Amino acid sequence: MSAPRLAVDEVTLAFSGLLALDKVAFTVEPGSIHAVIGPNGAGKSSLLNVLCGIYPVTGGRILVDEQEVTRLRPDRVAALGVGRTFQNIVVSPRESVLDNLMVGRHGLTRAGLVSTALWLGRREQRRHEARVREIAEFVGLSDKLDSTAGRLPFGDLKRLEFARALCLEPRLLILDEPVAGLNATESWELGQLVLAARASLDLTVVFVEHDMGVVMSIADRITVLDFGRVVAEGTPAEVRSDPTVVSAYLGAPDEPDPDESDPDEPDPDDSLTAETEPRAERTSP
Ligand SMILES: Nc1ncnc2c1ncn2[C@@H]1O[C@H](COP(=O)(O)OP(=O)(O)O)[C@@H](O)[C@H]1O
Ligand SMILES: [Mg+2]
Repeated sequence: MSAPRLAVDEVTLAFSGLLALDKVAFTVEPGSIHAVIGPNGAGKSSLLNVLCGIYPVTGGRILVDEQEVTRLRPDRVAALGVGRTFQNIVVSPRESVLDNLMVGRHGLTRAGLVSTALWLGRREQRRHEARVREIAEFVGLSDKLDSTAGRLPFGDLKRLEFARALCLEPRLLILDEPVAGLNATESWELGQLVLAARASLDLTVVFVEHDMGVVMSIADRITVLDFGRVVAEGTPAEVRSDPTVVSAYLGAPDEPDPDESDPDEPDPDDSLTAETEPRAERTSP
């Protein structure tokens, strides 16, 4: 199966009066890398959550190729090859890197974190483990497979999150702030991994990110959200020179870079933290 096209068609999401998404529309071409940017509270995480079926839309449609996914449950969307990472890391800190990746392989819907051995035949388990080792190698975690996830340095945790999303063998990969909290070198490296994954795994990628260096260097196109609405869309060069974007978002060079903040510090503007994390544990592949 090849990289799919994603169509977001006039998607609206209301939370008791608040319009988190207001007729958001854009298309992501097969095999392209599409960034969603915007200030805190713009609706970026909400958008990713509706793409995965975690938040049911109030209106509009979402299509992955010809398949409408708008009203599907998260596990059904995942089964269609939509894999994602979350803004707040959801790995299991007490499990090994290998076990975290094995769980990523099978989804959390049924078995939770119960030992994979209980529900996989041995031969099947070996096959999955071989693939998990390949993915770990790809992201540079081969020598950490036996480490306890909770003890990993933050940069490795972000790679683990990314690797876990890849373990689903997604066709559409959705990443929420993949480089948040990483230093410049780590951010660049993870950006390169996204490019490499797109090329070798034939993926379409949608990602939310504040790090404009990474966004501008890996995105083919960018959608800019503000107050739940699309305020601009285009190539990195077009978006960079768009006056609306510069005034709404890019034009604040003196503001502290959100990526420089302490990764353990919860984003005060992000009310998704409590909502999505437990659900993510149950539904993320
Ligand atoms: N589960 C929720 N319940 C109520 N309001 C929410 C919920 N999730 C997000 N919101 C609100 O929707 C808006 C967009 O939030 P979010 O998608 O997290 O923005 P971003 O990721 O761009 O920072 C914010 O005003 C936020 O407070
Ligand atoms: Mg967010």
